[in-house]
Amino acid sequence: MHGARSGATKTAPDWPIFAIVVSRENQVNEPSPKGEGLQLRLKAACCLESTGSRSRQSLRLEGEGFADSLEKWTMKTLGILGSTREGGNTEILLDAALDEARQEGGSARKIALRDKVIAPCNGCMSCAPAGECILRDDMQEVYQAIRESDSIIWASPVYYWSMTGLAKIALDRTFALNFPTLQQAGKIGGLILVAGIRGCVSAANPFHMYFLYNHMFAAEFTWGYAADKGAIRSDLTAMNMAREMVRQMRALFRAKLRYPEEFDKPLHRLVRERYGA
Ligand SMILES: Cc1cc2nc3c(=O)[nH]c(=O)nc-3n(C[C@H](O)[C@H](O)[C@H](O)COP(=O)(O)O)c2cc1C
Repeated sequence: MHGARSGATKTAPDWPIFAIVVSRENQVNEPSPKGEGLQLRLKAACCLESTGSRSRQSLRLEGEGFADSLEKWTMKTLGILGSTREGGNTEILLDAALDEARQEGGSARKIALRDKVIAPCNGCMSCAPAGECILRDDMQEVYQAIRESDSIIWASPVYYWSMTGLAKIALDRTFALNFPTLQQAGKIGGLILVAGIRGCVSAANPFHMYFLYNHMFAAEFTWGYAADKGAIRSDLTAMNMAREMVRQMRALFRAKLRYPEEFDKPLHRLVRERYGA
């Protein structure tokens, strides 16, 4: 980190200059081959403080618009795990994905639905006007986590050509987030499915419709085949797909895709409002 020049004696803290290339929309991008874009210059100081036997290292970064740019650049990922088997195949793939999500300054959180008490949606439709579910259970924590995240990875084993009951109950409860406008619009979707021998594609379908309906932007999905607990580790394609899927999600996140404002609701609701039927 230090820009020490050989032979130079340092009497003052060294302040190496870092540069991050941001686009004209103030969005952090990879530097283009032509070197286009606005340069954000940062000052960084690395300090080593010693108190008795303890020492602490700290890194300070300063620069105009740095906090804003960092916020736009780093992705907050939520992993929602619908497997009942602790340390099972789905969790192994999700952990690999979340590990990748923590790269490049990102943060990741996992919610294992098996540890939560979540009732099935009772269909009361009380959520319709305000987007709040009246059921006071652990789903409230999931709602909060979803709202705070930039990207959401749903991960489920395949049970009878579909997702697990745990995953379906939680997915149904996200219905509340469709109101008053689509609260998940613009978030990035990721999906991990593991089957013993078959069923990943049919299990993926409701998730993909969910991403579409919510105006989310989905990466391709990760699937793998393994029956015994832990056996997915030898499906190297699945293990690598979990990581690459997150790299794809990060690229989608940085692209800052949004539906135009006039489409801030599902198509059928928009049509009903505009045409009355
Ligand atoms: C109730 C149940 C239903 C299942 N249904 C299917 C299925 O339809 N297709 C399939 O290939 N595997 C099926 N399996 C196998 C699981 O998908 C497989 O063992 C998976 O690796 C479990 O993931 P986990 O380790 O995360 O729990 C089923 C397993 C259970 C317990």
